[in-house]
Amino acid sequence: MKSQHLLWLLICSLNFEKSFGLRVNVKNVGLTSVPSVIDPTVSTFLASGNLISIIHKSDFNDIYPNLNFIELSDNAIVIIESGCFRGTVLRQIELQRNQLTAFPDLSEVKDTIEIIKLQNNKITQISKEEIAPLSKVTIIKLSDNPLVQLPEFTRFLAFLTDLYIRDIDLKCDSSTIWLKRIPDTLNLRLDNEPCSYPAEWRSIAWVNITEDALLQQTIGEIFLVEYLCTPQTS
Ligand SMILES: *[C@@H]1O[C@H](CO)[C@@H](O)[C@H](O)[C@H]1NC(C)=O
Repeated sequence: MKSQHLLWLLICSLNFEKSFGLRVNVKNVGLTSVPSVIDPTVSTFLASGNLISIIHKSDFNDIYPNLNFIELSDNAIVIIESGCFRGTVLRQIELQRNQLTAFPDLSEVKDTIEIIKLQNNKITQISKEEIAPLSKVTIIKLSDNPLVQLPEFTRFLAFLTDLYIRDIDLKCDSSTIWLKRIPDTLNLRLDNEPCSYPAEWRSIAWVNITEDALLQQTIGEIFLVEYLCTPQTS
């Protein structure tokens, strides 16, 4: 009886170790780069509130086979090098409130990444090529970025449950129709009046913009260029 009990305890603690793993917490300590000496068994890396500006491939590649959660929110990140995170099992990455101008290249973790938080950055565009390979993604948060157009997330990400796209100056046209056809299983966070272009739609509620009206807006790029370049007359 006694040895059974011990065995049970041992199994429990092993499972505990396995499911929670090693957590490294270096929040708010003034780091300007990702530290090079981290326990290689790390599974959770928490480094929000620092001054990190660049994520290099050498920061994470081929060192941390258990790493599944990276929190780097509230830093000063401008660049994440292409090909980062190779050899990790990254499931969740938090990058909100940084200075990113492009969607990070997550192709090295395309088979594991599920949660991507990028609110409050300076991302100006996202292509379908960047998101289509990320087949496991369930949550994407992009609110408060200077985006104008979005790829058709629901077409590429079959398991998407949460899409946050508030505070984005959307250009609404026929390429935006997918936002009218959101499945019930998807929690969409969109402004009540999300369309900044065409300008006359700025104060029109999304519920009152019909698919027909979107279809008729097919001028696409030309419209935007014209809109931005036409001198204001008053
Ligand atoms: C949609 O349009 C109707 C009719 O013009 C109006 O009564 C309603 O308040 C509008 N809905 C919203 C949410 O603005």
